[in-house]
Amino acid sequence: MESIKFTKENYLFYLDQRLLPQREVWRQSKTLKQTYTAIKQLRVRGAPLIGVFAGYGFAICALKFSDNKDTFKKQALSALDYLKSARPTAVNLFWALDRMAKVLTQNITNNTIAIKKAFLIEANSIHKQDIMLCNNMAKQGLHLIKKSDRILTHCNTGFLATAGIGTALGVITGAHKKYRDIFVYVDETRPLLQGARLTAWELAKMNVPCKLISDNMAAYCMRQGLIDKVFLGADRIAANGDTANKIGTYNVAVAARYHKIPFYVVAPFSTFDVSIKTGAQIKIEQRMPDEVRKVCDRIYIAPKDIDVYNPAFDVTPAELITAIVTDRGVIYPPFKTNIRRILGKHDNIQNI
Ligand code: MRU
Repeated sequence: MESIKFTKENYLFYLDQRLLPQREVWRQSKTLKQTYTAIKQLRVRGAPLIGVFAGYGFAICALKFSDNKDTFKKQALSALDYLKSARPTAVNLFWALDRMAKVLTQNITNNTIAIKKAFLIEANSIHKQDIMLCNNMAKQGLHLIKKSDRILTHCNTGFLATAGIGTALGVITGAHKKYRDIFVYVDETRPLLQGARLTAWELAKMNVPCKLISDNMAAYCMRQGLIDKVFLGADRIAANGDTANKIGTYNVAVAARYHKIPFYVVAPFSTFDVSIKTGAQIKIEQRMPDEVRKVCDRIYIAPKDIDVYNPAFDVTPAELITAIVTDRGVIYPPFKTNIRRILGKHDNIQNI
């Protein structure tokens, strides 16, 4: 159950998620451009995973940078900027690449061979840390799921979206080991169908009982009393708890509140961006019109030249969130105070 592999020869491989579930194809990323493109085209996706992948992608490209220190520094900074421009919303990408930038600053008096080595060590540490964060989130969220719970999820938050067992899906599959009778409703997640193609595939692989629904069925399922809880992930969480996640998350949150169904977000500390006060400051990625006009990048389901609006994410206001499950503990409202209290010891949270 892996979505990327890094070998001792410093080769970076990834499972091409655009081809799932029809084909399981592993590709190698050798250049900066290939790393950028894999992220941009969602071949590697999910907030935590793009951070881990970008860290490795940068570190292996840095092996070929100049041995002249000034040129090396320029090449490193420009490579980091380039990778950061692949996708704007998930903060984990910036978090991981800022860690690489910090390694550069801290090692600037060393020779380039030592700095290159330090990049690889840091990328590996980001990778290992993400695996651990996933395990911790699964432990922290376990008590929120009870026997026979029927859980709705949106997008994909499992091993395909992280380096470990996942965020929300990690909590769900962890709970399934304890309660074999829990049941998952999977939103298909248009336009790119991460729910149908990836989450349904992951759950089937793990023998977790589930049903696929189209996104517009969620409120009806709630009305029918089929859903006990909602668990999903996040791409960026502001200091007040406002949460950016896959487009359609906000619809689910509104419907859940109306039907008095608990709505849980699961995210590691690396998904918090306390430099922004509210979700209004989160940049929402706008994607290609053809993603909406077509299905699976193949069949047009709309006129080829129809005008399209395609925001990849939305922001759920904190007031609609019951709690945020993190690697450090479950955060309940008031979020602003409790995010600081529970996550305050992490580096990126210190300045709130
Ligand atoms: O566009 P994607 O597929 O990268 O979007 C992913 C999501 O929105 C996930 O829900 C989010 O990254 C949480 S992942 C553990």
